[in-house]
Amino acid sequence: MKKKILVTGGTGYIGSHTAVELQNAGYEVVIVDNLSNSTADSIDGIERITGTRPAFEKIDCNDEEALRKVFAKYSPISGIIHFAASKAVGESVQKPLLYYKNNLVSLINLLELMPEFNVKGIVFSSSCTVYGEPDVNPIDETAPIKPAASPYGNTKQINEEIIQDFVTSGANIKSIILRYFNPVGAHPTAELGELPNGVPQNLVPFITQAAMGIRKELSVFGDDYDTPDGSCVRDFINVVDLAKAHVVAIDRMLQDKSPDKVEIFNLGTGNGVSVLQLINIFEKVSGTKVNYKIVDRRAGDIVKIWAEPSKANNVLGWTAKETIEDTMASAWKWQQKLREKGIM
Ligand code: NAD
Ligand code: WQD
Repeated sequence: MKKKILVTGGTGYIGSHTAVELQNAGYEVVIVDNLSNSTADSIDGIERITGTRPAFEKIDCNDEEALRKVFAKYSPISGIIHFAASKAVGESVQKPLLYYKNNLVSLINLLELMPEFNVKGIVFSSSCTVYGEPDVNPIDETAPIKPAASPYGNTKQINEEIIQDFVTSGANIKSIILRYFNPVGAHPTAELGELPNGVPQNLVPFITQAAMGIRKELSVFGDDYDTPDGSCVRDFINVVDLAKAHVVAIDRMLQDKSPDKVEIFNLGTGNGVSVLQLINIFEKVSGTKVNYKIVDRRAGDIVKIWAEPSKANNVLGWTAKETIEDTMASAWKWQQKLREKGIM
């Protein structure tokens, strides 16, 4: 019998790509999502890529009773990957309570239900945002956690602490916390990708929309930073590579290979790429100019951060494989597909 994995937020950007990789690896996937930041079209995309339609329940993870019914319906569930969260940094400053409620209560509900339904492991989506501005780059998992720059970032820190505290209290569960750097790109088939709501706040969707003419001009937030070309530096990680890391993490948890009850891994490439470099790479692979101008720095931006991914490389046996060129080409192919379908 196939092992069942509950994927919360599974119709979203990273969750849908992960559902594909889980199914390809022989797992049965049960998606729960309230569709607050995605559509059920992802389920069709997952089916077109893998030939298998995952189970889908439109459920809010803050609704513990609804979640309990899902646990009961699909029991036994072998493991959980918890993607469901609100993720817009700026919005979290405007609506902190919405972010605290959505991102904390949903995790607490899942943790409460795990022992009840004998679910042994949970993989949690954290973020490099917990490091703030690094003292050194590349940054590894032993680096100090810095005071959060936004309510969103704070929810990730608190979520990590909730997991640690629950395990310390004696809960019979294991957890792998994955700290993503900057996930970008789309599935190479262009059946799945990122679908931002309204004006994109993140760089890559803005680049592709500007190239498509949906946005008049990309604003590059600052070119006077202490970096090689003055623009900020990030570790852009391909979303399919990222998705594959979740399968490895689930395998490890279910095979009880981890010595510690909670493990933390950075998921990044180990390479820093600047904003201006990324625009340049995009223009080359797409053959399309991006209309951009340099504007003031964006408040709260990290200047430079990239991952030390050795722990994930050595312990998980996972390494980011895709080139940044192929990744940007995939983002462009996805944008073109959205245009073809009349979505954007
Ligand atoms: P996304 O918004 O595309 O996916 C999240 C999904 O969760 C959406 O489909 C949304 O509808 C769903 N959701 C939100 N609240 C819910 C709730 N209460 N109940 C049920 N479903 C709910 O975002 P993503 O980029 O795929 O991010 C996935 C996870 O990774 C999030 O936890 C995010 O914080 C984290 N993360 C993302 C990034 C990034 O840059 N994309 C970086 C680091 C960490
Ligand atoms: C990248 C770079 C911008 C848009 C955010 C969250 C972080 C994590 C990932 C979830 C920065 C510049 C951007 C634009 C630009 N998410 N930029 N013009 O800021 O690294 O991280 O997403 O956990 O928590 O804070 O990503 O894509 O917003 O920006 O010049 O229109 O691109 O200034 O240097 P960021 P981003």
